[in-house]
Parts: sequence; C-alpha cells; structure tokens
Amino acid sequence: MLLRRRSQYASWSFVHLLSLTLPVLVSFGFTIRSFAAESAAGHISLDRVTNAHALPNGVEIRSGSAIMQITALRKDLLRVRIGATETLPEDASWAVLAASRTAQSPTEYKSDEHSVGFSTGDLVVTIERNPLLMTVKDAQGNVIVQDIADRPIEFHGNSFRVYKQSPEDEHYFGLGDKPGPLDRRNEAFVDWNTDAFGWQESTDPIYKSIPWFMTFRHGIAGGIFLDNTWRTTFDFDKEVRDGYSFGADNGPLDYYIFYGPSPKQVEEEWAWLVGTVPLPPMWTLGFQQSRYSYYPQSEVERIAHTLREDRIPADAIYLDIDYQFKYWPFTVDPKRFPHFDDMIRELHAEHIRTVLITDLHIAKQPNQNYKPYDEGIAGDHFVKNSDGSIYTGVVWPGPAVFPDFTQKSSRDWWGTLYSDFVQKGIAGFWNDMNEPAIFEVASKTMPDDTQHRIEEPGFKTRTATHLEIHNVFGMENSRGTYEGLRKLDPNVRPFVLTRASYAGGHRYAATWTGDNSSTWNHLRQTGPQLMNLGLSGFGLAGADVGGFAGSPQPDLLTKWIEVAAFQPIDRDHTSMGTYPQEPWENGTTEDLNVRRRFIETRYRLMSYLYTTAEEMSRTGIPIMRPLFLEFPNASKDRHPLDLNTNNEFLVGPDLLIAPSPYPDMRDDYQAVLPPVGWYDFWTGEQVPMKGLEAQRVGNDNVPDNDLQINLHPSIDMLPVFARAGSIIPIQPLVESTDIKPSGPLTLRVYPPARPGGECSGSLYLDDGISYAYQKGDFLRLKFSCERTATGVTVKISPREGSYTPWWTQFNVEIYGADKPAASATSSLGAVQAAYDSEHHRLTVVIADDGKAAELSVIY
Ligand code: NOJ
Repeated sequence: MLLRRRSQYASWSFVHLLSLTLPVLVSFGFTIRSFAAESAAGHISLDRVTNAHALPNGVEIRSGSAIMQITALRKDLLRVRIGATETLPEDASWAVLAASRTAQSPTEYKSDEHSVGFSTGDLVVTIERNPLLMTVKDAQGNVIVQDIADRPIEFHGNSFRVYKQSPEDEHYFGLGDKPGPLDRRNEAFVDWNTDAFGWQESTDPIYKSIPWFMTFRHGIAGGIFLDNTWRTTFDFDKEVRDGYSFGADNGPLDYYIFYGPSPKQVEEEWAWLVGTVPLPPMWTLGFQQSRYSYYPQSEVERIAHTLREDRIPADAIYLDIDYQFKYWPFTVDPKRFPHFDDMIRELHAEHIRTVLITDLHIAKQPNQNYKPYDEGIAGDHFVKNSDGSIYTGVVWPGPAVFPDFTQKSSRDWWGTLYSDFVQKGIAGFWNDMNEPAIFEVASKTMPDDTQHRIEEPGFKTRTATHLEIHNVFGMENSRGTYEGLRKLDPNVRPFVLTRASYAGGHRYAATWTGDNSSTWNHLRQTGPQLMNLGLSGFGLAGADVGGFAGSPQPDLLTKWIEVAAFQPIDRDHTSMGTYPQEPWENGTTEDLNVRRRFIETRYRLMSYLYTTAEEMSRTGIPIMRPLFLEFPNASKDRHPLDLNTNNEFLVGPDLLIAPSPYPDMRDDYQAVLPPVGWYDFWTGEQVPMKGLEAQRVGNDNVPDNDLQINLHPSIDMLPVFARAGSIIPIQPLVESTDIKPSGPLTLRVYPPARPGGECSGSLYLDDGISYAYQKGDFLRLKFSCERTATGVTVKISPREGSYTPWWTQFNVEIYGADKPAASATSSLGAVQAAYDSEHHRLTVVIADDGKAAELSVIY
C-alpha cells in the first residue's frame, strides 16, 4: 500500500473549513483545487491537535474532522480508537472480551500549550499538539511506542496506516502462524486467511490472521494489537527504515498498546484482553496419529492395533475426509465403514480416541435427505450472494454452501449437527478448510461481495461483505463447534482443531500449521512458527509431524518425532499418496526404537506437560516458549537471547530443547544456555559453563559466548536440558493418558547452581477430561528446594484440592550428586538414599500422605 506523506497543500484543519466553504473556494487557485482533489479522494491526515479534552480514563482529541480517543483499560494497557470523520468506529470486537474492552482505569490528565496527555501510573502518554505526535513511555522514561514525526496517521478513502518508530535494537514477535524467523523485524506481512497448500518459508499470507505482536527492546516488552478483521498489513522496517507500520484496507482503526515491562506480563495482558486457551483434555497432549486418509475401517483398526503391538503410546486417531459419504460433512460412508460405531467403541477399548474432520462446506444436495443441507435451508443459515441468492462454492463435496457463522443463530444450529457424533463417543473434531477454501477460483475463497449477517453482542445487527468477515470466518466456525459441543456434553471438555482463525480464536480451538512439507527446512520451521503462535495466544498448536506434502527420509521422520515430542500438539499427519508415515514405517527397527523412546519420554513428562497446560489456561503463558520469555535479561545488552539460539525452545519454564539448527548437516553446533545453570536431562550431568552465575545485566566483562555449549548432532539423540533450580515431575509410562500410571511419582530435583540458591516446581492434576476441577476436584502441589553448604533440602506442600492422585509415594531424585549420601531424613522419619553414579543422583522414596513433607539429604 502506497501512502502519501502529509499533504503539502492543506492540513486537516482546512478540511473542516473547506467542507463548509468549498463551493466558494474551489475556483480560487491551484493550491485549493489540489486539496479539494485530495479531499474528494478522502485523504485525511491527523497532523495536529485542534481540540482536546479529558476523559475519566484518558483523552479525546480532535484533528479537524478526525476524532481520536486514547483510553486506559488498565494501568499497563491502552486503547486507541480513531475515526476519520467525526465518529469513532463501532465499539465491537470478535476478539476482545467485552469485560476487558469496556474496562476503565483512572488517569491523570495533563495539558499545556505544547502537548496534552495523561498518566496511568505505569504509563505516561504525551501527544504533542503540532505536529500531532504520540509517545508512550513507562514511569522510568523508557519509550514503549512513539509515532514517526513526518508520518501522521492517514486515511485514504476507507484505508488507513499508522507508523511507529522502530529503534534498531527493537524486535517483534507474534503475528500467529506466519512462516519465517522468530523475529519479525525486517519483514512485511498480510493478514488474509489463505489455504496455502505446500507453503514455504517466505509464503505470506497463510491460514491465520492474528494482528498482534510483541515489541521487545533492552529487556522491556510492549505490544500492539490492531483489532480489524479486514485485510490488514504489517511492515517492520521495510518501507521505512527504523519504522514499523500497520494498516487496513477498510474497517475500524482500533488498536491497543501493551506494556510489560516483562514479556510474560505482556502475555498475561494479552490473555486478559482476549482470553486464554481453555484447560485442554489431557488426551490431547498425548501422541496423535493421523493421515489423509485412513480408510476403510479395517485400515483404521490396523493402525490402532499396530500402535498397541509396537508399544507406541498414543491417545488419538484422526479420520480425514474419506470416512464421509461422498465427502458430505456429518455423514459416514457405510461401505468404507460398515461398523463405524463398533469401531469407535473398539478404539476406545484400546484407549484410543477418535477425532473426526467436519469441514464447514455443506454439500449442496437438495432432496437427498441430507440433514445439514435441508435444515440449513429451512433455517436460512447459509451465506448469500449480493443478489440475495445462496452462495455456492466448489470444495471436496463438489458444489457446497456455507453456514453464516457470524450469525449466532446459525452458529447455534451448526453446533447441533455434532449431536450424533457426540453420542457415538467421538472425542474431538477437526475444522479444516475454514479460511474458507474454495476450489476452482483464482481467489481460492468466496467473492469479496458475498453477504454475511452479523448478529453478535456489541455489534450493530447488520450485513457485511466477505471482505470484512473473511479473516474471522474460520474462528467463528470453530466457535460454533466449540460452543455446540459444550452444550451437547456439558461436563466434557471439547477438543476442536481449526486451521483458520483470528485473534482470540484460541478460546475455541487448538490449531496446526497446515500443509507443511516433508523437508528438513520445514522441521526447523516448526520452532519459530509454534513459538510465535504461542505468543499470539495459540499455545495449543502443532505442526504435521513428518510433514504433510511429500514423504520424509527415515532420518527426517525420526528427528521430527523427537522434536515434536516436546511440542504442544504431537500429531503425525501426511497427505494422501505419500509413503506411510506412522512411527513404525519408513525406517529400521532401530529407527522405530528411537521414535518410540521419544514418544515415551513425552508420556513420562505428561504430569509436567499437563501442569504447563494448566498454567497456560490460567495465565496465557504458552507451553512452548522462546528463551527471552523466561530470561528477558539474559544477554549482556538485553537483546532477546533467541536471536543467537538457532531454534532452541523451552517447554514450560524448566526444560530447554536444543535441536540442531540444520539437522540435515553433520557439523557440530552451539546451543545457547541462559545463565542459570543446566543439567543434561538424559544423563543427569551438570553442564559445565563458565560464568554461569554472573549477573549479566550491566556487567560488560562477561562475554555472551560464555553461554554457549558445543553439541554434536546425532540422529538418535536430541539435547534436552533441565534448569538448575527446578523440580520436574516424571511419571511411570502408560500407553495412553486414559490409563492411570502405577508406581510412585518421581520428582527430579535439579539443585540450583550455587549454595544458598533455591528451586521450585509444581504439579497440577485432575481427571483430565471433565469440569469437576472447577468445583475443586483437582490437585495442586508445590515443591521447593534449597541447596545448603552440605546438601539439599526438599519441601513438598500439602495437597490443595480434593482430587486423589494415582500415586502413594514420591520417588525424589536429587541430581548433581557426585558421592553417596552421608545421611537422609524426612519429616516422616529416617530414609535411605540410593546413589546412582551414572546419573549423578541420590534417590529417596517417601510416602505421600497428602500432608506437607520435607526431606534433607547431606552428601
Ligand atoms: C487440508 C488439510 O490441511 C489437511 O491436513 C487435510 O488432510 C486435507 N485438507 C484433507 O482433508
């Protein structure tokens, strides 16, 4: 989008005047005639303040015909709304929770001849009057967001663009599933949900539109959310050197400014604004097996049996479009699946749940007794053309029609379509193709002028063209599914997987990165993509394991299964026509053993994973984390550590995964470890590093390369490190999360790097499936430890919540021990500490009676 600089002919203040006097003035000369032309084209520039007054929670400004409100929702979160001509945009949102959108935080107004503004307590907002220039600083004077002086906000017709300064050491994260590096700096993006089969690293747009990003500079985080569902664009330092900008073709100029200062606080604010991922059913964290397409029924049964025979832990099998009769959603092909209900029951008996694809395109099949079509027509639920006829597009079933998901009554109706499947015991549903994808048209989607009906609290009830609804269509599709499932089975947590979505869509569905490819590059791409999705709210996300398009080499499949074992959703999926991609295929017995070992590790870590998922559902902090989220001050100049890490990531707060950046290369590589001390997760060995305990911030004498560790890549190994100062629960192996483990719960205690240091950990557990936890039927434990001069003391909190765990004993493993214990005592009496020199650990078994426990080991 090309935007003109501020008009050289007339400023906005003339706009108002001219609208009254234009007929008289228009013949007066070139300057005014030129301005008139601009005005007719709708060019409005907010270049100076013409009027301002205080609001209880901010300020309202006039700039000619334009009106701008800057308000504080909280001390650390501002909203900016701008209308070009006298009125503010509609105060409504698909993304923002109503209670947050209408929240108000009192502000202290300031005004003088040069500027106007306010303070929230945490933030100081200053708007210079002429030229109009907004700056947001924190209480310490750090600039969080600042306009660019010669680039005022401009409207051209219905479109607008906003420019902000981008200091050269500021970095940007988020924007959903967009491929490419973690840091968005020096990139430009478009939000327009697109069916992007076989996308590559530079493809944009792809499936989702999450117009939100975090800013990070010198350890201080902020953020911007442009709440606009039209086609939006973002540019980081490409059009303007040291400037970023965002804009839209149409729709509201309504954006939010976030302030941490820590990146975790920004994540929590984002969750406050748009909600969190609901606590997922535990089985969704298990290994999931999928393929386009598993049929007939005997093939699905063979896959399930092989998972069990080969002792591969697994929780779910997905049925893609071929289970349906002629690809008609909500049907089952009776020839391919003659005993569908029995199959679901048998899979259940093997502790494997079934997930069904249910695409949104309803087959256009009148007079066929096809309920979704007949009911949809009777209820007037389908999207229409501009002439009022029902829009038809070709997708898998051939000609198809599309529910009008922005209409609540249509969403509610859509939700009822799941009733039969829910009764049959289907555990999860997969909403694919909901960009929406349309075949046989160049645009790959509905025509721009298709008519959607909006019926939604906050919004005026009205019709809207597809241009406004496109980016939110997939989210409202998955919302209809989620809310329908909530009603159909109120005490069971739904699982919905969606491909397209908008900001806030994580409230309804998990997601995946669509049709990736079976290449090493795509394996590498899973890191930044899933981390940016997590930072954008979609913390429950995965990439097709092994790649969707094409067939992986055996080593690639092995490495992919290793890395994905530590990612939030672990689903092996591939396209039709590719080589088989299940863990036992495409490799030797040795490959299978390695793949199984990693999936088993995921299951041993299930208590930790589930605890992390619960934290995410409460706070918005994603399961999979870039390093800077946990360690924002770890580098010497406080740049994000991830800029030097080459694809490392954290699972929860305490496990660091360091895959080779180029796993197809044999070279050694360097991992960057934040300066807190680390243990090798596999061997228990402490990682020797110089300068570990150095306080890096402000200490220029500690070079960053002290944080590096040399690693040798190997196909059967993936470097994983546990944070010194953490306590990680490990559980006995089960073949499905449906099965209660038997034996003690292991607590791996990784003592802090130096004496006097403390450590902590926690565990959350419930029945994994229902909402009983909301009534107190959960278990929460907190662990802590202290490293003394002579040993380690471990404390376990009394149980919180009424859920009874499966264990009766703790198996406490203290790592970093290089000799047997001199003594060990627990609050329940004297105990034995076994020494394992190979794993550098002391192990003590203590009973868990639900009360507080303490253990002291001297060595
Ligand atoms: C496209 C999806 O991205 C893919 O995962 C699925 O297998 C196919 N549609 C067929 O349903």
